[in-house]
Amino acid sequence: MEVYLADKAGLCFGVKRAINTAFEAAAKDKVYCLGPLIHNPQEVERLRQAGVQLVEDFASLKQRDSLIIRSHGVPPGVLEEIRKKGLRIIDLTCPFVSKAQRDAEALHRDGYQVVIVGEKKHPEVQSILGYAGDNAVVVETADDTEDIHFKNRLGVVAQTTQSYSNFSKIVLKLLRLSKELKVFNTICDSTQERQDAARVLAGKVDVMLVVGGRNSANTSRLVSVCQNEGKHTYHIEVADEIQQQWFEGVTKVGVTAGASTPDWVVEGVLDKLKSKKIGA
Ligand code: F3S
Repeated sequence: MEVYLADKAGLCFGVKRAINTAFEAAAKDKVYCLGPLIHNPQEVERLRQAGVQLVEDFASLKQRDSLIIRSHGVPPGVLEEIRKKGLRIIDLTCPFVSKAQRDAEALHRDGYQVVIVGEKKHPEVQSILGYAGDNAVVVETADDTEDIHFKNRLGVVAQTTQSYSNFSKIVLKLLRLSKELKVFNTICDSTQERQDAARVLAGKVDVMLVVGGRNSANTSRLVSVCQNEGKHTYHIEVADEIQQQWFEGVTKVGVTAGASTPDWVVEGVLDKLKSKKIGA
């Protein structure tokens, strides 16, 4: 069986930076992280063992404790509370997320009703929402737009890990529902590149494996991209989940990985696929 890795797969710049900085900070001092640093349970466990302690809120922390803000960012109100408490902030908000926050803020300031295309409960969307004004709305699918009464002037931003096809479908709908529409394409390059590479590879192989956290939005999006190519697709977090019967009659298997999937996890999957046990 031939095994192919997508041209662009795995850790993006923002997550790489967050992981490296968190390990460096933990080597010097006790450090807390507000929510899991990344949506990958295996790497979060490695960080925990290195001393990065996960907290769901910062109420119990003491002045001058170090607190990591992860790549998804936080709403401005939360940032203000953290500052007031006198915590040391290690801000690892991805610059692409900061850009989406600033775009949303500018649209609101200029009088647009802000529409965020993304998953309502995702922490990144919640962080952008904090900058977007009280009348901002979050839209997940083009169908969602049917139930919302929009203002005449709409300003649109996207969760950085959205698929371009979902984003463009929604923008097209909003064009019909508004008098003026201003759109910032805030989908990040890493997301786009990984989706494009997954699509190309899915077109060439019999089966696709997508590696990454089940709680990772961008990994789930890669699964949809491969399925939309009509390809049988398995979403796994680690190599141990691979089952031999998936490959009966298969001659070519493709592998891709979400932007929050560490290299060591991807390598484990490739090693297993290439081992005699699976690939013979
Ligand atoms: Fe940043 Fe894009 Fe990664 S927003 S965290 S570079 S997926």
